[in-house]
Amino acid sequence: MNKTITSLTVLSGIALAITFSAPLMAADGKAVFEKTCKMCHVPGIAGAPKLGDKAEWAARNKKGMDTLVKNAIGGFKGAKGMMPPKGGNPKLSDADVKAAVQYMLDASK
Ligand code: HEC
Repeated sequence: MNKTITSLTVLSGIALAITFSAPLMAADGKAVFEKTCKMCHVPGIAGAPKLGDKAEWAARNKKGMDTLVKNAIGGFKGAKGMMPPKGGNPKLSDADVKAAVQYMLDASK
């Protein structure tokens, strides 16, 4: 009997964890960044502003968050290179891309 109660408790704990982590995963900037943006924005491939490069991101930030998000979603050709729409991953939602931009800005202050 006790065993049944214990396993029920464990099961509902798992169910709760899944319920609460799902909305977070929908727009987890770090996770999106790691998966889609990192390959260019860490090594600085093709002129991509590197994560943690304060000067570079401060200059970008002057355009305003809305413009940066718009350029990340729709793609952007700048003086340095080509930012593909949604980093080349059309499965990302606009909110995912926005969260990833926010993550890069926060990590580059
Ligand atoms: C294939 C390489 C590549 C990938 C993948 C990539 N980027 Fe970029 N990104 C670039 C390059 C290159 C630039 C710089 C373009 C320039 O300024 O000439 C850039 C610029 C940007 C900018 C600045 C735009 C502006 O207006 O100055 C933002 C914001 C950005 N990327 C966000 C992202 C996000 C978010 C992701 C992941 C979802 C991502 N990038 C994935 C190559 C990439």
